[in-house]
Amino acid sequence: MDMLEELRKLPKAELHLHIEGTLEPELLFSLAKRNNILLPYKNIDEVKDKYLFQDLQSFLDIYYNGTNVLITKQDFYDLTYAYLIKANQDGIRHVEIFFDPQSHVSRGVEFKDVIEGIYDALEEGKKEFGISYFIIMCFLRHLSQENALEVLQMALPYKDKIKAVGLDSSELGHPPSKFTELFNKCRENNFLTVAHAGEEGPASYIWEALNLLQIERIDHGVRCTEDPELLKTIIQKNIPLTVCPLSNVKLKVYQDMKEHNIKKLFDLGVKVTINSDDPAYFGGYLLENYIQCQNELGFTYNDLCDISKNSIEASFLSNSEKIKLINEINNLKQKINI
Ligand code: ADE
Ligand code: ZN
Repeated sequence: MDMLEELRKLPKAELHLHIEGTLEPELLFSLAKRNNILLPYKNIDEVKDKYLFQDLQSFLDIYYNGTNVLITKQDFYDLTYAYLIKANQDGIRHVEIFFDPQSHVSRGVEFKDVIEGIYDALEEGKKEFGISYFIIMCFLRHLSQENALEVLQMALPYKDKIKAVGLDSSELGHPPSKFTELFNKCRENNFLTVAHAGEEGPASYIWEALNLLQIERIDHGVRCTEDPELLKTIIQKNIPLTVCPLSNVKLKVYQDMKEHNIKKLFDLGVKVTINSDDPAYFGGYLLENYIQCQNELGFTYNDLCDISKNSIEASFLSNSEKIKLINEINNLKQKINI
């Protein structure tokens, strides 16, 4: 069978995707030109040469720099729509997109332009490609809780467009406990909650995200294997992990894809999903992450059907929407196995 084509056809949800991390060098250059912004690179090849990272922070420095070209509502629309074209090509049927408002409003960009640009593109993508979506607003953990609370106030008029809140940026030294009050406020306002934890940070940060922030899913979470009690809890409570294999290799959480623990987690019964995180920087969109898991870690087609089912089950879709997509996966799986 043509594995690439079969994996493409599988209905998949992408649950860990920073929209600012889909800014391809070509769009970076065209937006810089449109907005009269001077880039620290001469050409596209020079940009790509810079995309070699030692760790999370060395990536974030370049990633935040890239966001400087995003200024108008049209810029956010173009960025999001470009991602949806790729998502459609990869067979993605549902996306839950992160955005980082603090990296934009701190530069004087209006919150309204950010959210409306992203929202309008997602609506267009829904009409054109049938891709359903939710928007997740992430807070930058290297900034203060006070700053996050101010941005939450800006977001409240757009509450109906935002399904959940998350926590991202530099993990080490910024534990989830720093944001307990913020997440309480978010839950009072009916936002669901997720958080990056256990990417570079220790297992204790995952405990804090679960117990203090009361999150629905753990973003990354791969370091949970360092604490047997935590691993047991994650399995028993069926808490999903949004794992990003190519990202973890590029940011040196693992030195090589063959060292990644996602297959081990899967075999232990953890509800793992595969995601692309910041695909313009990490060398591949969602389907490439699936393919590399198959090639380097020995996931079979049936395993990847189960992972795509996990992505649907771990999403914030309604039960009836989940059932429809899961039935589609079951039918495809059955056909292949006859
Ligand atoms: N922001 C964008 N990508 C991120 C990641 N992998 N971890 C933390 N913050 C991020
Ligand atoms: Zn991330």
